[in-house]
Amino acid sequence: MSRAEKRKQELERIIFIGRTFEEYMQMFDLELQELKGKSILDCPAGACSFTAIGSRQGLNITACDIAYDHPVDDLERKGLQDTEHAMETMERAKDIFIWDFYENVQGLGKHRHQALHDCVKDMRENSERYVAATLPKLPFEESQFDLVLSAHFLFMYGDRLDYAFHRETIRELLRVTAGELRIFPLVDLTGTRYEHLDRLVAELQEEGLQTEERRVPYEFLQNANSMLCIRKR
Ligand SMILES: C[S@@+](CC[C@H](N)C(=O)[O-])C[C@H]1O[C@@H](n2cnc3c(N)ncnc32)[C@H](O)[C@@H]1O
Repeated sequence: MSRAEKRKQELERIIFIGRTFEEYMQMFDLELQELKGKSILDCPAGACSFTAIGSRQGLNITACDIAYDHPVDDLERKGLQDTEHAMETMERAKDIFIWDFYENVQGLGKHRHQALHDCVKDMRENSERYVAATLPKLPFEESQFDLVLSAHFLFMYGDRLDYAFHRETIRELLRVTAGELRIFPLVDLTGTRYEHLDRLVAELQEEGLQTEERRVPYEFLQNANSMLCIRKR
C-alpha cells in the first residue's frame, strides 16, 4: 500500500466532529474573565472552535489532536461527511438526548457545522495553534499550560480504551499543566458512569492530587452533566 493510501485509511478511522466555543464554556463551566491571561490546552480538540473563537476574544489557547497531521482540506471534507452522518444517526437516537440547548436535530447540526467552519478557517490562518500529537504522549513542556481541557474522549470510549491508557493519558495531561485538568463527561456513549472512575479518583488522591466531580450547566446526552477537575496542590 502506498503512503498516500495509508494516510487516507488513517483519516477514515478518525471521526472529525467539533463543538462550539459556547458549548465548551458550558461543558466546563467556564467564565471568559477567569480564562484571561491563562495558557490553555484543548486536547483532543478535534473540529472544535474553542481555540478559534477563544483566541479571537484574546485567550491563549492551543489545540491538539491526532487528526492535525492531515491536510486541512482533507479534514474539512471528512468533517462535513462525519457531521452529516452524525445528524442522520441522531434522528434515530434522539430520545436519549435532552434538547434544551439545541432545540432539535437541525439546531444541533448548525452548531456542528459552525464549529467545523470556524476551526478549519483558523487552522488555515493560524496553523501554529494546532498541534498534531498522539496520546498518551504530548510534545509539550512540563507545566507549559495553566489549564488543560479534555472533552468527549476519556471515559466515553471505556470499551475501546483500556484503564492503562486512561491512566497514562491523564498522567501526561497532568504533566503539561501547572494548575488544573478538566475532563468532560464522566459517562460512556450510553450515559453510564465510567466503571473505573472511583478507582481512578482514589489513585489520583493517593498521589497528592485534589479531585472534584462537579455538575455543569450543560447536559445533552442524558447523565453527561458532570466533569472531573484534577488540581495540583
Ligand atoms: C469525539 S472527538 C472529541 C473532540 C472534542 N474534544 C469535542 O468535544 O468535540 C475525539 C477526538 O479524539 C481524537 N483522538 C483519538 N485518538 C487520539 C489519540 N490517541 N491522541 C490524540 N487524539 C486522539 C480524534 O481525532 C477526535 O478528534
